[in-house]
Amino acid sequence: MYAQPYPPPTAATIDEDPDQREDRGQGEDPGQREDPGQREDPGQREDPGQREDPGRHEDLGHHGDVEVVPGLVDLAVNVRRGPMPEWLREPITAALDELAAYPDPAPTRAAVAARHRRPADEVLLTSGAAEGFVLLAQALRGARRPVVVHPQFTEPEAALRAAGHRVERVLLPAETGFRLDPTLVPADADLVFVGNPTNPTSVLHPAEVLTALARPGRVLVVDEAFADTTIAPGVPGEPESLATRRDVPGLVVVRSLTKTWGLAGLRIGYLLGPAQLLARLAAVQPLWAVSTPALAAATACATPHAVAAEREIATRLAEDRAHLVARLTALSGVQVAGTPASAFVLVRLAGATAVRLALREHGYAVRRGDTFPGLGPDWLRVAVRDTATTDAFVDALANILEV
Ligand SMILES: Cc1ncc(COP(=O)(O)O)c(C=O)c1O
Repeated sequence: MYAQPYPPPTAATIDEDPDQREDRGQGEDPGQREDPGQREDPGQREDPGQREDPGRHEDLGHHGDVEVVPGLVDLAVNVRRGPMPEWLREPITAALDELAAYPDPAPTRAAVAARHRRPADEVLLTSGAAEGFVLLAQALRGARRPVVVHPQFTEPEAALRAAGHRVERVLLPAETGFRLDPTLVPADADLVFVGNPTNPTSVLHPAEVLTALARPGRVLVVDEAFADTTIAPGVPGEPESLATRRDVPGLVVVRSLTKTWGLAGLRIGYLLGPAQLLARLAAVQPLWAVSTPALAAATACATPHAVAAEREIATRLAEDRAHLVARLTALSGVQVAGTPASAFVLVRLAGATAVRLALREHGYAVRRGDTFPGLGPDWLRVAVRDTATTDAFVDALANILEV
């Protein structure tokens, strides 16, 4: 675990209604709580030479899409590429006729709420999961000890830093298969980000381990952008998802429609959580942040038909993933991390940078691992594809490794 010195927090409960807070003025509007313009530039706050900046060594803004160029087989980006089903295409294209009107999120909010068996005010539609991280970071600027559990998607930490937070990291070790150990999270952390299943490790943490992280006074953010890719025998829905859990204090679940439905360019996701907390996040969200076609897509993806289709896709993905894992583990010198549960697999192999560059020569783009906090130059992330693509890829890898 990365232990960064941190000033002791004062009593703070960032998940409480700001109107009830004693240490923050009398009933002030969270949106007015502090003027960002008045706030010092976090980059200037102290001499970086005086204190180790954990973000200094990685490029938190690096994403797999820049690794993909025309002509390469894309194993770097985890967005499913399939023909768009008609039940999804039709409402998106029909929404083009409605573009003269400002978007009305209410029907979509109700549809998403019904899908997750929650009241509508416990849903906040966002321009992708990525916007959700920004809203959390901006609205919860009063957080005193934000913690990000790594390795994970880098945008939560980037959004926190951009909002002026000083971010503390908990690094899950490879030796334990990147399994979540709640005792590693400081007891007084009042804003905690964890991914489930986690990108890039593909590890699915048990729901009860995640809920053990929740406590009054803490906002626990669980990024479930890939939850719809997970499946377990005998479990009807998404195993370990907390999306329907209304009993966990301070829990915010982040969801995305990008991955399974191939909608990265549309920008649609949502947050699920306590109504009062979501109202604070909505207060810092731009007006009309989610477009009418994006709303149409979210409504369509919330139907029982769409959810059933998701389960079928996850079932096929599990078969393809098992094939990829079997082929990779048969290569000497290649180690698959943890127990992969999502649309990608994290692998460790010596000299991964050189291997990645050689793979490009062979026509394959894979995601570098070294820009993820907690990983190093020996890691690569590989997307799960159909078995024919996997076979050709692993043959190329074996050729490079001469195994
Ligand atoms: C774990 C994780 N969460 C969230 C996102 C962002 O998703 P969206 O496209 O909905 O903003 C990504 C995108 O790569 C991701 O990998």
